[in-house]
Amino acid sequence: MDGSDVIIIFDTTLRDGEQSPGATLNIDEKLEIAHQLARLGVDVIEAGFPIASPGDFEAVRRVAREVGQLENAPIIAGLARASKGDIDRAWDAVREAKRPRIHTFLATSDIHLTHKLKISREECIKRTGEAVAHARSLCADVEFSPEDAGRSDPEFLYQVLEVAIKSGATTLNIPDTTGYTLPSEFGGLIRGIRENVPGAQDVIISAHCHDDLGLATANSLAAIQNGARQVEVIVMTLHTRPHQFSLRTHIDTTQIVRTSRLVSAYTGIAVQANKAIVGANAFAHESGIHQDGMLKNPLTYEIMRPETVGLSESKLVLGKHSGRHAFQSKVAALGYGLSAEDLNRVFERFKELCDKKKVVADADIEAIVNDEIYQPMELWRLEHIQVSCGSGLRPTATVTLRGPDGVVREDAAIGTGPVDSVYRAINRIVQVPNELTEFSIKAVTEGIDAVGEVTIRIEPDAANGANGHGEGYLTQAGLRARTYSGHGADTDIIVASAKAYMSALNKMLTIVKAQATA
Ligand code: KIV
Repeated sequence: MDGSDVIIIFDTTLRDGEQSPGATLNIDEKLEIAHQLARLGVDVIEAGFPIASPGDFEAVRRVAREVGQLENAPIIAGLARASKGDIDRAWDAVREAKRPRIHTFLATSDIHLTHKLKISREECIKRTGEAVAHARSLCADVEFSPEDAGRSDPEFLYQVLEVAIKSGATTLNIPDTTGYTLPSEFGGLIRGIRENVPGAQDVIISAHCHDDLGLATANSLAAIQNGARQVEVIVMTLHTRPHQFSLRTHIDTTQIVRTSRLVSAYTGIAVQANKAIVGANAFAHESGIHQDGMLKNPLTYEIMRPETVGLSESKLVLGKHSGRHAFQSKVAALGYGLSAEDLNRVFERFKELCDKKKVVADADIEAIVNDEIYQPMELWRLEHIQVSCGSGLRPTATVTLRGPDGVVREDAAIGTGPVDSVYRAINRIVQVPNELTEFSIKAVTEGIDAVGEVTIRIEPDAANGANGHGEGYLTQAGLRARTYSGHGADTDIIVASAKAYMSALNKMLTIVKAQATA
């Protein structure tokens, strides 16, 4: 295999991923994820959409400045609509990277041209040429995406792409924006572009596939079978079926689980148990026939070894007699790379848990790592809660918080239930109007002593943005109508609920604060 057999992996967790409801990330979280993506070995990090807000701009700039300057740094891309203002802003954000990229896009489907942009096809071609030429005047690496390419008239798409190439695009990214196409159609579209667009052989053809019908991976595979050389998924397929594809990536597959866990913890979006490769059941076998086969030879039922994706087999069962060393190797086997300081904090939590539970399961450890480490900056800190509730009683909570100014404040409230009363008491202190849009609780293991994990989502109540300190910052700084998630874990589910709420509030407030000061 030579260089032409390399598939470029473009990661858009920090841009398209972060646009998913509830996935909002603050700058520190974005930076940490970007560092992990660099360790994973992705070739391009799309770090954000700099024109979207001052906070987004700053996040892209910091990723470019810090991760984009590493040895063997990935390319750092910033997204821009096809307009001068967007492109200038994207360039300002990425220019400090060793290898910056401007990614500009304009829709090409008639549905988008008519109903969204309200422009003619001719205007679309004109704007494409101008935008790409302007981007290229600033940056040697320019990616152009015809948004909704999957539903665009191919003949018109070819014309737009030809203009993009002539104007200086170096990568043509073909998005199936609505996740509508079938693998045969999407593969055919990529082949059609390679065969019909003059100059297509001299640029990288890329695929950006959405998963609305669950076909993103299949469509991406069809794309590379038809000549695409940049995609956003498929690494383990190429790795597991080398003879089928004869293609490779620069990805260090042993970093996959760790990356997935980090992103899940920061976005608050849980990975479904039956998710391929990184789900909890990906390497679990419960059927007797499978277990028998696995014991005889893992090849009977496993097409990948867990350690290939960063899960090493660990037979250690931890309990109160386990020492730091055993704990450390368990945490590493679970795919976490913790600093000595973080390990100490989690170890302390582990010891506290051992006083409450005889056997601490892997899921308990994952819950406490997520609870202890992957939390937003603590502007407000939960010091103490006390709740009284029961039949015939009015649920009442007293809450003590330490504020960003270091002052400890206490308040109490009555609610419809214990969690409601805790949230009301917190609201009385923090005074940031918001709406709770989702609340979920699960026991991470079986048994009455299980750790409870709470995930919540809140939305700022922008209409009532003024807070008790008279700052009104919820409505300032172009705060986008976004959802903020939070998670908390504890054997006491009311404490877990309070922690989750503090985590979501802190995330919302750090992002708002960053936007207000940027
Ligand atoms: O899905 C899409 O069309 C996009 C483009 C901006 C690349 O995200």
